[in-house]
Amino acid sequence: MNSSPGRDVILGIETSCDETAAAVVSRATDVRSSVVSSQVEIHAKYGGVVPEVASRAHVETIMPVVEEALELSGVDRSGIQAVAATHGPGLVGALLVGVSAAKAMALVWDVPFVAVNHLEAHLYAAFLEEPDLEMPLVIVLVSGGHTMLILMEDHLHYRVLGATVDDAAGEAFDKVARFMELGYPGGPIIDRLSAEGDPAAIAFPRAMLHDGWNFSFSGVKTSVVNHVRKNPDVAVADVAASFQEAVADVLVIKARRAAREFGAKGLCLAGGVAANSRLREKMAAAAADDGLRAFLPSRAMCTDNAAMVAAAGWWRLQADGPSPLDIGADPSLRLPVA
Ligand code: KG4
Ligand code: ZN
Repeated sequence: MNSSPGRDVILGIETSCDETAAAVVSRATDVRSSVVSSQVEIHAKYGGVVPEVASRAHVETIMPVVEEALELSGVDRSGIQAVAATHGPGLVGALLVGVSAAKAMALVWDVPFVAVNHLEAHLYAAFLEEPDLEMPLVIVLVSGGHTMLILMEDHLHYRVLGATVDDAAGEAFDKVARFMELGYPGGPIIDRLSAEGDPAAIAFPRAMLHDGWNFSFSGVKTSVVNHVRKNPDVAVADVAASFQEAVADVLVIKARRAAREFGAKGLCLAGGVAANSRLREKMAAAAADDGLRAFLPSRAMCTDNAAMVAAAGWWRLQADGPSPLDIGADPSLRLPVA
C-alpha cells in the first residue's frame, strides 16, 4: 500500500491492561523507541490485575512514559504525524487513560487520532519485525485474555477460524501457577521451571484436538489440580513441563492443520503466550517440517507494547483515515473480520 504523505511517524499508546506503554514507529516497520512500564509488581501481591489499581497506575505513568518514548526516538513533537491508542478490548478504566491522553495530544498537536484494536495490534507485532510476511498466514493469537486461530488473508483482512470456549491459554498458565503457588504472572514462571522438568512425565489431556478449530483449556488446568492433589510429592518442574507441553501441542497441531487446509504460506505466533519457549520451538519445527515459514516475533513484541499499536495504527490510518474524536473505549471490542 502507498502511504499518505505526512502520516508515517506515529506515536502509539497502550494501556489496555497492566502495562503503560508508548512508542514511536515510522511506516509500521521502523521502531524509533518503545517504552513499557510494567505494573506487574504492583499487582503481584493480589495474584492478578486489580482494575482500579491499574487505572490509577496508568494515570500516574502515562505522561512520563510518553516523554521517554519521544526523547529516545529522537523525533521531536512536531515530527509526530499521528497518535494511535488501544481503545479495546481490555479494562475500561485502563483503556480510557490511554485513549484520553492520545486524543488530547492529537488535538493539541493538530494531527490525526487513530483508535486501535488491541488484538489487531498483536497481529501487527509480527509484521513490525518481518515486513515481507507472505499471506495467507495462519496466526495463533494467545494472550491472557484471548486464544484465537486466525487466517490472515491480506492486510487488515482476517477470518477467525476458532477460539477458546473457556479459559484463554495465558489464563490457564496463570491459574495453574497460582494453584501451585509459583507466583504471578504464571506464564514466564512455568516457562522457566519447565526447562528443568520432563514434558512427557504426565500425560495431561489435549482437549478438542481432533474436533474443529476451537480450543478448551479449562480441562487441562483441572487435570493439573487433580494430579497434584493426588500426588503431593510430584516434581513441580515435571508438572509445569507436562502442562506446557499439552497446551503447546494443541496450539501447534491445530495451526498446522489449518495451514494445510487453507493453503497458508506461513505460521505465526502473537500475544503474550507467544513468548513461551516450548511453543516457539514446536511452532518453528512444525513450519520447517511442512515447508512453511515461521514468524515468531521477539519476546518483547509478543507481550503488550505500544510499538505494535503504532504499527496497526499506521495500517488503519492508511485504510480508514483518522478515527472520530468521540470514539470511546470498548472493553469487549472484537477483531474486525472481513
Ligand atoms: O498479551 P499479553 O501481554 O496481555 C494480554 O493482552 O493479555 O499476555 C499476557 C499473558 C499472561 O497470561 C502471561 O502469563 C502470558 O501472557 N505469558 C506467557 C509467557 N510470557 C507471558 N505464557 C507462557 N509462557 C511465557 N513465556
Ligand atoms: Zn495483549
